[in-house]
Amino acid sequence: MNSNPGQATADELSDLAQVFAQIGASIATPAFVYEDAFIRSRCEHLKQIAEKAGCRLLYSVKALTLPWVLELIAPHVQGFSASSLFEAITARNVLPAEGTVHLTTPGLRPDEVNKISEYCDYISFNSISQWLRHKDELSDHMEIGLRVNPEVSFLDDPRYDPCRAYSKLGASTHAVKEALGQNSAASHGVSGILIHNNCNAPDLREVMLTVQKLESELGHVLDNSKWINLGGGYLFDQDSTNLDAFYEAVDSLKSRHGLEVFIEPGSAFVRDAGFLVSTVLDLIEDGDKTIAILDTSVNHLPESFEYEWRPDVLLDIEGGRFPYIIAGSTCLAGDVFGEYAFAEPLETGSKVVMYGVGAYNLVKAHTFNGLLLPSIYSLGVNGEVTLVKGFTLEEQSQRWGFEASARFGN
Ligand SMILES: Cc1ncc(COP(=O)(O)O)c(C=O)c1O
Repeated sequence: MNSNPGQATADELSDLAQVFAQIGASIATPAFVYEDAFIRSRCEHLKQIAEKAGCRLLYSVKALTLPWVLELIAPHVQGFSASSLFEAITARNVLPAEGTVHLTTPGLRPDEVNKISEYCDYISFNSISQWLRHKDELSDHMEIGLRVNPEVSFLDDPRYDPCRAYSKLGASTHAVKEALGQNSAASHGVSGILIHNNCNAPDLREVMLTVQKLESELGHVLDNSKWINLGGGYLFDQDSTNLDAFYEAVDSLKSRHGLEVFIEPGSAFVRDAGFLVSTVLDLIEDGDKTIAILDTSVNHLPESFEYEWRPDVLLDIEGGRFPYIIAGSTCLAGDVFGEYAFAEPLETGSKVVMYGVGAYNLVKAHTFNGLLLPSIYSLGVNGEVTLVKGFTLEEQSQRWGFEASARFGN
């Protein structure tokens, strides 16, 4: 999940503003634009960290599931992690034969277990009951793990926190011990564990604290397992601190417990590669404030609404001479992004560009009020934009089962 992005430098922001000033006119808005070179550089960076740590790197495809993005990332990772049959099939179709597909979900559907076994190499059951119900239905090639809730919380907002009270995500260490009894995990067919307990966290000491908790509570299980997946939740970017603690944690899992270690970040690959580009449709004067209505909506950036964060906008400056309330174009009164201020006034037709929105937005976007989903563009190294996918009224109506061709003028 997303939350407000870390700070890009002032120079980087000014370069980006220039790029979008040049290409803005050639983008049909609203549009998500993803910067290929940025994703590539994140891949290189994350690969270096994984290699230094001696762990295997997966991309959690739920963050952004575009085919060309998956193809861009695939050569840099050992596999993909998925949260549904759809994501697993998508992952399998993009990965080379040696790439592995890993799945965990609280909502494993009985009618999909066979297919999941066909497309995945690893499954981490989310609960003891899910494991007991389905463990004998999987094919022999599958590595079976349990998602463990380490019960170490680092997040203030329980809506983000996989370790919140009564969390549905993962079995408690107590439940795992009880289920496995005195026997080794391997004797139950369990070869590994998955944990995931953070979100956009800068401090890698939190990995270490989580691993230490697991070592003290599930040391026996770790000793008898083959692998551990540390999940995602860390950005490994310029704001990250205590990277050494991450290396130490991985080293401890490998050297003390003989484990193969995976990490499966999502946001770290794509968050800061994504922009939502929109156009001002109307400016409404209301007393001392001006409301700018964009041709997008919070439904194109659902996490900003769900989690009440204010997306960053290029050229927004503190104390800027021209302040605006920036709002979306649906009938929902709360379809408002926030208050922003610029050095130059907005006009109808001006472009407004939100940045740091590459993860968990397109994949969650919806079409309330019949607004089409934003178009999708890739941004190349020379500032050229390529339309990858545009959405049409016809597609939208067919989605709901209308026979659209006549009505939309085809
Ligand atoms: C099990 C699991 N792994 C990995 C991720 C990716 O997390 P992030 O995008 O924060 O790195 C998530 C995100 O929800 C997750 O639930």
